[in-house]
Amino acid sequence: MASEFAVEMQDVVKQFVTPEGGILSAVNHVTMQIKDGEFFSLLGPSGCGKTTSLRMIAGLELPTDGKILIHGKDVSQVSAFQRPVNTVFQQYALFPHMTVEQNIGFGLEMMGVPRAERSKRVSEALAMVRLPGIEMRKPNQLSGGQQQRIALARALINKPEVLLLDEPLGALDLKLRKEMQLELKTLQREVGITFIYVTHDQEEALTMSDRIAVMSNGVALQIDQPEEIYERPATKFVADFIGETNFLDGVVRGQNGRDVEIDLPGSGTVHIESSRTFTTGQQVSVAVRPEKLTLKKEAQGGNNLKGRVEEVIYIGTDTHYGVRFAGSHKARVREQNATQANKEIAKSGDEVTVSFTRTSPRILTE
Ligand SMILES: Nc1ncnc2c1ncn2[C@@H]1O[C@H](COP(=O)(O)OP(=O)(O)O)[C@@H](O)[C@H]1O
Ligand SMILES: [Mg+2]
Repeated sequence: MASEFAVEMQDVVKQFVTPEGGILSAVNHVTMQIKDGEFFSLLGPSGCGKTTSLRMIAGLELPTDGKILIHGKDVSQVSAFQRPVNTVFQQYALFPHMTVEQNIGFGLEMMGVPRAERSKRVSEALAMVRLPGIEMRKPNQLSGGQQQRIALARALINKPEVLLLDEPLGALDLKLRKEMQLELKTLQREVGITFIYVTHDQEEALTMSDRIAVMSNGVALQIDQPEEIYERPATKFVADFIGETNFLDGVVRGQNGRDVEIDLPGSGTVHIESSRTFTTGQQVSVAVRPEKLTLKKEAQGGNNLKGRVEEVIYIGTDTHYGVRFAGSHKARVREQNATQANKEIAKSGDEVTVSFTRTSPRILTE
């Protein structure tokens, strides 16, 4: 039966024997379901198992345990070239002696597709990546961004059901990378092919993805839409890896329905809203984004912590303040410089009150 999922990883494990003779679990019981037509990203720091996961979906590595399904079909025993997937790597390795047309049409030629048909499909693929009419060029006559588009056209030409992309923009400079991010996203919508995109760049993943799997040490910690990942991180690792987060460590004093009272030893007491249940005495971390904190001269409604400004950093759009509270807690506060009145609210050494609502932090325990 056809599945609504393009790709499923079911409890997949991949172990490698290390040169020292130990066993390394590069992917450790990962389960994820990638929907048909989705732009799905695997995001995490170097070495967390992104490439290994992608290579198993491609069939370039076999899982030690668990299953991989493509459109509901177990492909564990299907070889790489028989899977309906294609991969674009960071090193896009175009053949230097071949023209653009020959590079893109190479796979079709191997499959015995006649020349006229090949030519037509190469032109279509070039139009798709917005580089029409450059069939006769050689790779060294193209910029890095153009070469990456050729690699993309080569991967799209035989209309794979799933396109795997492993840090494909990593070699490009920042400005071009940002342009290509938006283009790739548009292209993905146009062609309607499922994209599984590997990146260690959180901003890139937030910009492009329908959903993101945040990975660490071979484990998928959270799989969600970008906004959910940013606004409701499930763990401290996710909160820390995506954007910037202040962690204020404390102890639960009590809970009244959704209202959780937390003591931040030495710095004060806060009330945070949560749908979870905590026990009195439980150690927790109040995780709150710098842009959700504001600096005031006086206490206001919500939570207020008294502190001293230690650092003021003006970065144009915003000003960042480093504030130390009476206990050992510290926080970074980000104020927008939208109006002149907002600029330089406080200077180093000033006594201030840091305010935030009951709903802006998350209470994290792991
Ligand atoms: N062929 C291999 N043999 C041994 N260890 C490997 C092999 N491939 C990857 N690893 C290890 O598995 C872990 C995950 O690697 P990888 O999936 O490439 O991470 P990422 O793409 O997230 O940077 C790393 O510790 C890496 O050193
Ligand atoms: Mg990698």
